[in-house]
Amino acid sequence: MGSGIAEVCARSGVDVTVIEVDPDRATASRAAIEKSLDRGVRGGHVSEEDRAAALDRLVFSTSLEDLEGADAAIEAIIEDETAKRDLFRKLVDLLPDAQFLASNTSSVPIMKLGAGTSQPHKVIGLHFFNPVPVLPLVEIVHSIMTADETAERAREFAEQTLGKQCIDSQDRAGFVVNALLIPYLLSAVRMYESGFASREDIDRGMVLGCAHPMGPLRLSDLIGLDTLLAVSESLYEEFRDPASVAPALLNRMVEAGLLGRKSGRGFYDYSKN
Ligand code: CAA
Repeated sequence: MGSGIAEVCARSGVDVTVIEVDPDRATASRAAIEKSLDRGVRGGHVSEEDRAAALDRLVFSTSLEDLEGADAAIEAIIEDETAKRDLFRKLVDLLPDAQFLASNTSSVPIMKLGAGTSQPHKVIGLHFFNPVPVLPLVEIVHSIMTADETAERAREFAEQTLGKQCIDSQDRAGFVVNALLIPYLLSAVRMYESGFASREDIDRGMVLGCAHPMGPLRLSDLIGLDTLLAVSESLYEEFRDPASVAPALLNRMVEAGLLGRKSGRGFYDYSKN
């Protein structure tokens, strides 16, 4: 998701510094953005000049200090509350004049990211959808501590600078879209786990019968099974609805490192793509 967000920002004329955990990830992130831009060029959505200009606006680094002086930051690290809280404390110190400090989290309450920092009013959720260059939606998530001014600046950035379309959500687990989507995806995993139907037939059923662009197991692979698990846990913690309990198969797959597209294998095999 981070690469997709960085790509969309750079394509919109924003100078972007991408912070990755190590040089290999930085190289992979740049390669993913180049591949996606190439796809945009092939599809006629991006000109060769805009592709080159977008790549020129991107700087990759492994040092958080390189963000110094930035107008805003968008966090898209792993769905780990401790890691995210730690990062937000550092971001608030590093960027005292930032217009907003946003998280793309799908599962951690925004309030928890702001609490414990000296500027909780600057922290907000900007939740993008995968693939970010294609899907127009951004959910704007106000915590009980987010200032109205922060929300306005973040909305202005998402709508006017990036050209996205926004909906507002309270800071409740799953926000609007995942609170609806994740129980459906978990039902598909349970259906496959119980032998109710094959993975192909479950997916074909929803594509051919309901005109979804992809079936639920393929979509789970696109989202990442670790993210699906993290969101299901946060939904269950908040609402205690059995529909949000992760099936054993999902737990086992995540433990085995079968995370979907990003790891090369999930419900389907992507190693040859
Ligand atoms: N970068 C740039 N452009 C891309 C792209 C990418 N990564 N992927 C697809 N495209 C473009 C293609 O160029 C193509 O454009 P044209 O139609 O103008 O030629 C268009 O998007 C459609 O792509 P394809 O024809 O190759 O394939 P498709 O029709 O199967 O679409 C898809 C692919 C966009 C991924 C589509 O299958 C889809 O929308 N799937 C559902 C995705 C979804 O539900 N995402 C939400 C996940 S939830 C989430 O992200 C939040 C969370 O917290 C979990």
